[in-house]
Amino acid sequence: MSTIQKSGTFTLGSHTVKRLGYGAMQLAGPHVFGPPKDRDAAIAVLREAVASGVNHIDTSDYYGPHVTNQLIREALAPYADDLVIVTKIGARRGSDGSWLPAYSAKELEQAVHDNLRNLGLEVLDVVNLRIMFGVMGPAEGSIEAQLTALAELQRKGLVRHIGLSNVTPAQVKEGRGIAEIVCVQNMYNLAHRHDDGLIDELARAGIAYTPFFPLGGFSPLQSSTLSDVATRLGATPMQVALAWLLERSPNILLIPGTSSVGHLRENLAAAELELSVDVLSELDGVAKAA
Ligand SMILES: NC(=O)c1ccc[n+]([C@@H]2O[C@H](COP(=O)([O-])OP(=O)(O)OC[C@H]3O[C@@H](n4cnc5c(N)ncnc54)[C@H](OP(=O)(O)O)[C@@H]3O)[C@@H](O)[C@H]2O)c1
Repeated sequence: MSTIQKSGTFTLGSHTVKRLGYGAMQLAGPHVFGPPKDRDAAIAVLREAVASGVNHIDTSDYYGPHVTNQLIREALAPYADDLVIVTKIGARRGSDGSWLPAYSAKELEQAVHDNLRNLGLEVLDVVNLRIMFGVMGPAEGSIEAQLTALAELQRKGLVRHIGLSNVTPAQVKEGRGIAEIVCVQNMYNLAHRHDDGLIDELARAGIAYTPFFPLGGFSPLQSSTLSDVATRLGATPMQVALAWLLERSPNILLIPGTSSVGHLRENLAAAELELSVDVLSELDGVAKAA
């Protein structure tokens, strides 16, 4: 069995994917804006991910913008039949690199066409509607207008499956009444566990939960407990953080991001790591201390 196969599998839309996937955001330039410093290195990371068995890649056309999707196309097209590329819409980039909401029906349709063109696809497999109501995280408010517009694009055959991102449990509930939701992508990791209840609820419904910033994102996780556990297990703190997420719930799909082949290999090897009940309860203390 390959290393990554040990992460297990979960259904995402029409496919079964390995639970350890890859998030492509880090492949664009600094602050996810413009081209990468080393284009060949970015291509190498994507090819290494797929060669290692990754069949779930997370992206967006607003990474770059356009850059990350163009890299994915150059590195991986024609795509393997089992590869699921999940993208997200609902934002655009200002000329200064800022992240701006882009929610009108016209903007959402434009974003779907941008993703199709830059990825070189005729249909997008899974599209997350990324909500930006709050500055620091999810904020309440109806998502009916935006989701209805995305469901219309699904009806037109441009999108196979719909997910939600940066949403509250109330928005997930509202969304499930409007369209079939196959995944939810929110910030969650060992130190940020606001979604514990939501994850369990989605697991009962067979809906995937994909944490973004699984390693802490722009502020990588730092915790003496995490480092101590890693040292004892002969692993790295990032591997322990990923192994903990795999243990946390069977519907969690991982998309750790990296621009480095070395880090990619390290992250995928987390599938091999087994955490005892005692270690898991020790790691539960990280969020309490955060
Ligand atoms: N829905 C949303 O709103 C949203 C928001 C943010 C991200 N996302 C998605 O979620 C994915 C994951 O999030 P993320 O990439 O922002 O954050 P992340 O996976 O938590 O962490 C990525 C950071 O950790 C570093 N890193 C990765 N592996 C490492 C390792 N083994 N050792 C040390 N450092 C390591 C990376 O630097 P190096 O490049 O140097 O390895 C990068 O700085 C993104 O790629 C994107 O697809 C979605």
